[in-house]
Amino acid sequence: MNNSLPPTPYAQLPTPDSQRDEVLIDLTNVQKAYQTPAGPFYALKGINLQILKGEFVAVQGKSGAGKSTLINMVTGISQPTAGQIRVGDQNIHNMGEEQIAKWRGLNAGVIFQFFQLMPMLTCAQNVMLPMDFANLYKSPKVRRQRALHLLDQVGIVEQAGKLPSAVSGGQRQRVAIARALANDPSFLAADEPTGNLDSKTADAVFQVFENLVSKGVTILMVTHDRELASRVSRILTIADGQLVNNPASDQPTIQAKQRHK
Ligand SMILES: Nc1ncnc2c1ncn2[C@@H]1O[C@H](COP(=O)(O)OP(=O)(O)OP(=O)(O)O)[C@@H](O)[C@H]1O
Ligand SMILES: [Mg+2]
Repeated sequence: MNNSLPPTPYAQLPTPDSQRDEVLIDLTNVQKAYQTPAGPFYALKGINLQILKGEFVAVQGKSGAGKSTLINMVTGISQPTAGQIRVGDQNIHNMGEEQIAKWRGLNAGVIFQFFQLMPMLTCAQNVMLPMDFANLYKSPKVRRQRALHLLDQVGIVEQAGKLPSAVSGGQRQRVAIARALANDPSFLAADEPTGNLDSKTADAVFQVFENLVSKGVTILMVTHDRELASRVSRILTIADGQLVNNPASDQPTIQAKQRHK
C-alpha cells in the first residue's frame, strides 16, 4: 500500500544561499500517517518549513490540528511517513531509535504537553536524568548543582527534593522545563509549556524562554495563549495537518533573520 500523499500544492521556495547556513530546522514535504482501523489517518499532510537559528516560533491551531505531531517530528520522537527532516547538519527522519535518542539528548530540549516526569524520582533527579543519559556534566555533584540552578531559574528550587506527585501541576510543568534545559540544548521544542500555569507564572516561564532566545537558542513552541504568541518572532498556524499561513510566511522572515543576527 502506498501511504504517501501527493506533494503539497506549493513547492518549497528555494532558500537563498545567504540564508542557507542559518537554517536550523528544515522540513520538506513531511507527512505523518497514523494507522487506524479505518486505514491511515494523515495528521500531517505535507509540511514545508524552515526555522532559522535563533528564531522563536509559535505554533497555533485547533485541537487535533497536528501541533503535537509536528513537535514530535522535529524532536525525532516519532518518524515521518514521508518527507525529510534536517536539524543542523543531521537528517533525523531516517535515524535509528538508539541514534536518535542520543542525538536528542545532546541537541534538543523537549517539553511535553503532559510533562512525562518520572514519578519515582524527585524533581531534582528528574532534571539530572538527561545529564546522566548523555553523560554530560561528569560528576554527580556538578549535575545536582546544575539541576538546582535550573530549578531556581524556573522559580521552584524549594521543591527540588519532592516527588512530582507532591507538587502542583504548574510546578510539575516547570520541572519539565528545567529538565528540557538540562543539557543546554541548541533548540527547544515545547508543547503548550504554559498551558497549565497562571498568567503570572506563565509570564515568568516565557521570560526564561526569551532569555534563552537572546542567547541564541531556537524555540518552537505550541501555545494557545495569544498574548504570549504576540511576543515571538513568527507565528505558524496549522489546520487539519497543513500550515495555513501564506506559503511565503512559512519561510523565515527577514525581520526575524535580522533580529537574531
Ligand atoms: N497515535 C495516534 N493514532 C491515531 N491518530 C492519532 C494518534 N495521535 C494523534 N492522532 C490524531 O492526529 C491528529 C493530530 O493530533 P495531535 O496530537 O498532533 O493534535 P494537536 O494539534 O496537538 O491537538 P491538541 O491541541 O488537542 O493537543 C488528531 O486528529 C489525533 O486524533
Ligand atoms: Mg497536542
